[in-house]
Amino acid sequence: MSLYGDFVKFLNENLPTAPSFHPHYESALSDMLKAGGKHFRALLLLGIVNALKPQNLAASMRVALGVELLHTYSLIHDDLPVMDNAPLRRGKPTLHVKYDEVTAVLAGDALNTHAFYEISRANLSSEIRIKCVEILSQNGGVSGMVLGQAIDCFFEKKPLTLDELKFLHTHKTAKLIAASLKMGAVIAECDEKMCDEIYEIGLDLGLAFQIQDDIIDATSDESEAGKPVHNDGVKNSFTNLLGISGAINAKNELIHNIQNRLKQLPNSVSNVVLELTEKHLK
Ligand code: IPE
Ligand code: IPE
Ligand code: MG
Ligand code: MG
Ligand code: MG
Repeated sequence: MSLYGDFVKFLNENLPTAPSFHPHYESALSDMLKAGGKHFRALLLLGIVNALKPQNLAASMRVALGVELLHTYSLIHDDLPVMDNAPLRRGKPTLHVKYDEVTAVLAGDALNTHAFYEISRANLSSEIRIKCVEILSQNGGVSGMVLGQAIDCFFEKKPLTLDELKFLHTHKTAKLIAASLKMGAVIAECDEKMCDEIYEIGLDLGLAFQIQDDIIDATSDESEAGKPVHNDGVKNSFTNLLGISGAINAKNELIHNIQNRLKQLPNSVSNVVLELTEKHLK
């Protein structure tokens, strides 16, 4: 089977459980995980491990699951009425619409901590597991994704400069994508220099990914995107600041840089990144 198929199978066999007399808490935890998504971050991580240390691939599934859990929590909270107020995600009604806001907030909280539980019990050395916890928490939390979301929301109606917008997108999206690649490199036991180089490429890749997400909001339709489009309004997005062709140019320039930097890395690594770039960023 493909890495995608293997990961989807693992995800569906390892959905969070919390039996209780609550009528819908447990189903709310897995609704958004079962709804699909591209699994871009998980596949970057697994792709690197598969390319460099396939004997660690099975054990790395739990770390990839951790990334998917944290990412999904960020989307559940991002869709809340106080943030983007979105009724649809991955082609399904969002949790605050299907249940209520309390359930959506708490399901997000639960998936966030569960991410670290899953990493803690991966069948990898304690050194690798701690390193993955460190990387995911640093990039997903206080000075990573959450900072990006804070800036996005606070400045929603106040235009940022291009440099500020890059800072915003780098934090809210690129850091988690770079972290996914770096965790793959750590699990593959790459040296520090290679882990850092892969992380730096990941920052460009993640910025390009968020630019593409801004382009999708401006140019695609709801059934294609699986989420509301034209939802960015006056938000600080690349398309609002540079126009659609300006955003496409910015994305292509980043992809060009990524292609150049990948030349220093083994072909097997470069292929993983290029294939996922081709699939989701073009
Ligand atoms: C959406 O992420 C939010 C962004 C950071 C752009 P994805 O586009 O990876 O969403 P899914 O996981 O495929 O649903
Ligand atoms: C959200 O960015 C990024 C996160 C960290 C969740 P967006 O608000 O643009 O993501 P979508 O378009 O709703 O998926
Ligand atoms: Mg948002
Ligand atoms: Mg949103
Ligand atoms: Mg968006």
